[in-house]
Amino acid sequence: MTYQSLKGFPDILPDAAAGWRRLESVIHELARRFGYGEIRLPMLESTDLFARGVGEGTDIVGKEMYSFLDKSDPPESLTLRPELTASAARAFVQHSMAQAQPITKWYYIGPMFRYEQPQAGRFRQFHQFGLELYGSPNPEADAEVIIAGAELLRMLGLTNYKLRLNSIGTAEERAAYRTALLEYLTPLSGDLSQESVRRMEKNPLRVLDSKKAEDIRATADAPKILDVLQEESREHFERVKGLLAASGVEFTIDHRLVRGLDYYTRTAFEFQGLDLGAQDALGGGGRYDMLIEQVGGKSTPAVGFSFGMERLLIALQHAGLAGDMAPEEDVYVIGLDDASRAWAATATAEFRAAGLSAECDLLRRSMKAQMREANRRGARAVVIVGGDELAGRHAQVKDLASGDQKAIGFDDLLGELKGLLARPAAPHTVPAPVQPDRTEPISES
Ligand code: HAM
Repeated sequence: MTYQSLKGFPDILPDAAAGWRRLESVIHELARRFGYGEIRLPMLESTDLFARGVGEGTDIVGKEMYSFLDKSDPPESLTLRPELTASAARAFVQHSMAQAQPITKWYYIGPMFRYEQPQAGRFRQFHQFGLELYGSPNPEADAEVIIAGAELLRMLGLTNYKLRLNSIGTAEERAAYRTALLEYLTPLSGDLSQESVRRMEKNPLRVLDSKKAEDIRATADAPKILDVLQEESREHFERVKGLLAASGVEFTIDHRLVRGLDYYTRTAFEFQGLDLGAQDALGGGGRYDMLIEQVGGKSTPAVGFSFGMERLLIALQHAGLAGDMAPEEDVYVIGLDDASRAWAATATAEFRAAGLSAECDLLRRSMKAQMREANRRGARAVVIVGGDELAGRHAQVKDLASGDQKAIGFDDLLGELKGLLARPAAPHTVPAPVQPDRTEPISES
C-alpha cells in the first residue's frame, strides 16, 4: 500500500523550502520596520467563531470549512482555521489587548485550510502572511496597512500587480445599497449566471465581483456603492486615497471590489497579480470595525490584510525572481581509506560545532564518487585526507569556486576554511540575501 498526500495538500520539499524561508525573512523584516509583533495562533477554533466572525452567508463558512465534532460529551464542533482575522480577534479579546495599549499591531504566518476545488494557485492547505492593526478608526491606519502591503511587494521585487481599492461603507450604508442593488438586479436576473442568481438572495454585492462575462455585462450600469456613502465614509475614503497618493502608492478605484468575507466596513482592497491566471488575488483586506464586538469584545476599530504565500512565490517565479538556489554547504570532507574516513567524521563534527555547514560520506564511496557528491551538494570547499595526509597531519583543501588547492596542517584547517568561506565565490554561487536593503529589491543584490 502506498500513500499519496491529500488532494490540495501539497508537500514542500527542501529545494522549495529555501524559497519559502527567503519569503518569510522578507516578511519578518517588513513587520520589524512597521512595528508589528508576531502572533502564533491555534489551528483549531470553535466553529462558531468563524460562523459568527467571517459570516454564515460567505462561501468560506457555507461550504469551505473543515469542521468536525470532537470527542467531548456533548461533542463540540471545531474547525481548522480557514483564515486568521477571526482567530486573532478572539485572541485580542481573550488577552484584553484593548486595556493593555491603545494600538495593537500583530502579524502572522501560517497554514489555513479551505475545502475549495484545487487548481493552479488554489489549494486546500495554503499559507497566509497577514497584518492586523487594532484601535484606530482613522484613515491613517488604513493607509499604513495598505502601504505595508505595497512595501512587501516592493521588497520582493514584484511590480506586475494592480492595487484595487473601494469603500463598502458602514453596515447601514451597505443595507441601503443592498436594497438599491437588488432593485436593479431583480429584473435582470434572467441575464445573470446561475451562481449570481443564487448569490443574489444571500449577498447581492457578491454579484458585482463575479468574473463571468454575462454578470459583468448585466451589472455594467448597476448603482455604485461609492455613490450611496454618507459624508463620514466618503471623507474617510478620500483621506485614505490622499495618504496613499502622498506615499506614491498607485491604486485603481474599483466599485466591483466587495471582498468575500462579511466583516468589512468602509475600506476594502486587493493586490491583484497581473500574470496569475484565474487565481490572481495576491492578497486582500480592509477595515473591519464591528468584528471585535461581534466576537464578544468592547467595540474596537481594526484594519488588516492577508497575502497568499503560495501566490507570492508563483508571482516571484513568473517574474524570474525565485532566485538561484544558494549553496547549502560550506565544506565536504573526504576520507580515502578506513582510518581517514574516521578522521573525516570527527573533523566534520568539529566543523559543525564551529558553525560551518559540513558533510562527509556515509556510504564509504570512492574518492571520485565523493567529489561528485560534493559538487552536487554545492559545497564551497572540500577537505581531502588519505593515508599520507593522516601521517603528515595535514589535509588537501580545495576551493571548488576557484579550483585552488593546497595542503594545510590540521591545526590550521578551521582558520583556513573560515578565510576561504569569507572570500566571495564565483558569481553564480553568491548566496541570495535574506535581509534586503530598503533601497534594493532582493532580485538585484
Ligand atoms: P482572503 O481574501 O480570503 O482574505 O484571503 C487572502 C489571500 O489568501 C488571498 O488573496 C489569496 O492570495 C490567499 N488565498 C485564499 N484562499 C486560497 C487558496 N485556497 N489557495 C491559495 N491561496 C489562497 C482573508 O483571509 C482575510 N483574513 C484578510 C484580512 C486580514 N482582512 C483583514 N485582515
